[in-house]
Amino acid sequence: MVNFKYKQMNSVSESDINAYAEKLALADKYLREKSGAGNDFLGWRDLNVRPEGEEYARIKACAQRIRENSDILIVIGIGGSYLGARAVIEYLKTPYHNQLKTGDPEVYFLGNSFSGGELNAVLSLCENKRVSLNVISKSGTTTESAVAFRILREYMESRYGREEAAKRIIATTDANRGALLSLAKQEGYECFVIPDDVGGRFSVLTAVGLLPAAVAGVDTDALLNGAIAQRDAIMNAGLDNPCYKYAVVRNVMLDKGKTNELLVSYDPDFRFMGEWYKQLLGESEGKDKKGLFPASVTYSSDLHSLGQFVQDGSPIMFETIVRATNPDPNSPKLPFDTANGDGLNFLTGATMDEINEKAMMGTLLAHRDGGTDSAIIDFGGKDAYSLGELIYFFFAACAISGYILGVNPFDQPGVEAYKKNMFALLGKPGYEDGKEALLEKIKTI
Ligand code: PA5
Repeated sequence: MVNFKYKQMNSVSESDINAYAEKLALADKYLREKSGAGNDFLGWRDLNVRPEGEEYARIKACAQRIRENSDILIVIGIGGSYLGARAVIEYLKTPYHNQLKTGDPEVYFLGNSFSGGELNAVLSLCENKRVSLNVISKSGTTTESAVAFRILREYMESRYGREEAAKRIIATTDANRGALLSLAKQEGYECFVIPDDVGGRFSVLTAVGLLPAAVAGVDTDALLNGAIAQRDAIMNAGLDNPCYKYAVVRNVMLDKGKTNELLVSYDPDFRFMGEWYKQLLGESEGKDKKGLFPASVTYSSDLHSLGQFVQDGSPIMFETIVRATNPDPNSPKLPFDTANGDGLNFLTGATMDEINEKAMMGTLLAHRDGGTDSAIIDFGGKDAYSLGELIYFFFAACAISGYILGVNPFDQPGVEAYKKNMFALLGKPGYEDGKEALLEKIKTI
């Protein structure tokens, strides 16, 4: 199970925590009774996709087919429609999974920017390789993904012919509406559903994350089972549980003027989990002029860049360290060196994991002395079950933290603003009105 430690934080006292008792009880009630703001987006709470369900069987069968007939899977999606899948794959299979000769298909992510260079690079990797495509979009109209999909659909059809391309394109989208669904039906693509009651950032444990992860060779049974176990642990606990403590501590820190949360990992493979967390917490809480700004860092690398600021700079942040408690059995050991020119013989026989642990503890204490508080989230580590537990822990903590903060954790009204301007500037029909005013404003830039 995932644990949360905060006793070492200088700025958080038991009375700070207790002061939140009433708000926490209300947040818990909202989650249990589905009676809070955004309650129709709580599908993730009981996990829409269950290991014994029909949808999951189809996901696994499709993944198996792709594993047999493809060397590369390209996943098109942005935000909640890609971050979770990439995070799970990179954490469990390493960011080098595409280069390692594991026998698993390579998985690339496109449609999460307007970078033509990136798209061209991935297409060049597809030469002489068998390719499948999973296009993921709940709305079916997101411009970044739609642009990439139009180009890649043409690539697939000119390479394989329309009929074979249709067998190699899988659409993950809304069950009943949207441009992507209409096209998928017209072309006969296999379709998976992003449930109505799950927002993008809560969708990694649906087909959105499970299909790419299963293609990459992730043990998705274990991922789901870990999430279910964590769900049961939280829902069976009272208010005094680690997940809720984390949610409360986040709000206490905000009260104390710490406006930024730094999610810290000492494992570079966790980098995209940090990206996923930023969307989850940032989009859920950053509204109504409220919320902690979520950032993520990888130590010890970033101790050599941002470390100076965290130790000594403006006191605007606290750290949440995500720590894997299971040791890495393959962690390399430092060999003895007769010359000892680097002076490292005192570490002979130590694993890199052990050195990392000392770096972590040393840093935590130094940051505490410098006035930066650090909380710790402990979870098992680099296995799918433990990652499933951690993902669910963050889901529930995000919901409770948002409810305590007094926002609707499940909408994202602010995401639309840039789209309106972009559509007007691109000349999208229906957006003509704003264009002249925007062009005038651009002249002043
Ligand atoms: O969390 C969200 O809602 C967003 O980040 C969306 O996931 C993102 O904009 C992609 O949307 P869609 O799946 O509709 O293409």
